[in-house]
Amino acid sequence: MQLCKTSAFAVLTVVTLCLSTTVDSDIDNVSDEEDASRYLSGLSPVLLPAVDPLSSSHTLSAVVAQDLEINQTCRNLATIFHDRYIAYADCLVKSARPVGVCLNCFEGYALLSEIYANISNDKDGPGNCRDSLLRSDRLMLIYLLYGNLQNIWRNSACEHCVNTEQQAVKNQTLYFMNERNQSISCFDQYKQENHSDLCVKCKSKYESLNVLYGGMEKNGSLCIDIEDAMNVTRRLWSKNYNCIAPREGMIPVIAVSCFMLFLPIIFYLSSYLHSEQKKLKLIHPKRAKSNNSLMNIQDKFS
Ligand SMILES: *[C@@H]1O[C@H](CO)[C@@H](O)[C@H](O)[C@H]1NC(C)=O
Ligand SMILES: *[C@@H]1O[C@H](CO)[C@@H](O)[C@H](O)[C@H]1NC(C)=O
Ligand SMILES: *[C@@H]1O[C@H](CO)[C@@H](O)[C@H](O)[C@H]1NC(C)=O
Ligand SMILES: *[C@@H]1O[C@H](CO)[C@@H](O)[C@H](O)[C@H]1NC(C)=O
Ligand SMILES: *[C@@H]1O[C@H](CO)[C@@H](O)[C@H](O)[C@H]1NC(C)=O
Ligand SMILES: *[C@@H]1O[C@H](CO)[C@@H](O)[C@H](O)[C@H]1NC(C)=O
Ligand SMILES: *[C@@H]1O[C@H](CO)[C@@H](O)[C@H](O)[C@H]1NC(C)=O
Ligand SMILES: *[C@@H]1O[C@H](CO)[C@@H](O)[C@H](O)[C@H]1NC(C)=O
Repeated sequence: MQLCKTSAFAVLTVVTLCLSTTVDSDIDNVSDEEDASRYLSGLSPVLLPAVDPLSSSHTLSAVVAQDLEINQTCRNLATIFHDRYIAYADCLVKSARPVGVCLNCFEGYALLSEIYANISNDKDGPGNCRDSLLRSDRLMLIYLLYGNLQNIWRNSACEHCVNTEQQAVKNQTLYFMNERNQSISCFDQYKQENHSDLCVKCKSKYESLNVLYGGMEKNGSLCIDIEDAMNVTRRLWSKNYNCIAPREGMIPVIAVSCFMLFLPIIFYLSSYLHSEQKKLKLIHPKRAKSNNSLMNIQDKFS
């Protein structure tokens, strides 16, 4: 333990030495007086002991603070970005399953977007934070990190569930969540008993939820939280509780299938009846003939 600490400290000292020597040579090379003063004013924070590079929770701000080219204003912005990034990413991971990335984390996303906008709009300020924080190296890490979280927000279609201007969950979303909540409560109420009981008692709630969801699907007001909530409810209904709701479109199909099933029986029955009729005719041909002649005689006499 002690060994680790001392070796880590040694590495740190070497790094600090290297840094200060490169800075010195840079300063030697700077011709422009304005630039020189910028470097010098940037130097002082490195000498401050406030930053602890070993503390992992402040890694980003520590890295920023060691960068001598960065103005204090930008460094403050970077620290705020760091804190808000951590908070939002933390919320995302915690809301991964069941999905709650829109409804649980929209406040965090708004705060992160605000600070990112402040950084990327600061191009005429004294420190030009946009260039010094976002574009000073090949990796462009802050840009990359923010872009990834922005993609998650967009892929989740969160703006369909959250009113970004008013910073509030939409009424329609709340209404859906409440309806789905009632279906789940119904499931919970009857799941101890007979499942066939559950299917009957919760059928109307479950079906109206499906209708509501279908309407929202049509007018494009779904976000991942709602999609996942519905998905889970459907899985509970059909897999866990084995309730199958026969759709209205199924009834004609079932009727036609039944008819097809009975077709052979009808065929054999009708051909049987037909042959019986023929047999009857074959048995009495003489009587029919005599009848005919009798009728002929009657015709003649009339
Ligand atoms: C100073 O800058 C010039 C070009 O701007 C470069 O060629 C030279 O190597 C630099 N000198 C030092 C000591 O960094
Ligand atoms: C850093 O920003 C401050 C304002 O916050 C400004 O007064 C100062 O000139 C800037 N320093 C440099 C080197 O641009
Ligand atoms: C970001 O900019 C907005 C408006 O320009 C301002 O109200 C807000 O205080 C700024 N946030 C930070 C952390 O500087
Ligand atoms: C949403 O609900 C709130 C309170 O329940 C209400 O004050 C507000 O007017 C509603 N908004 C819309 C657009 O219906
Ligand atoms: C129903 O919603 C309320 C808040 O609206 C929540 O506290 C509760 O846990 C939900 N119940 C279920 C079963 O999801
Ligand atoms: C469950 O339902 C079946 C058929 O509906 C019935 O035969 C059985 O007795 C029920 N069991 C209980 C514990 O209610
Ligand atoms: C979308 O459909 C739902 C349910 O059919 C309805 O309550 C809501 O007002 C519709 N929203 C829009 C924006 O048309
Ligand atoms: C619904 O669940 C299925 C199976 O778990 C999954 O493959 C599908 O992507 C889910 N749909 C949505 C919209 O999340």
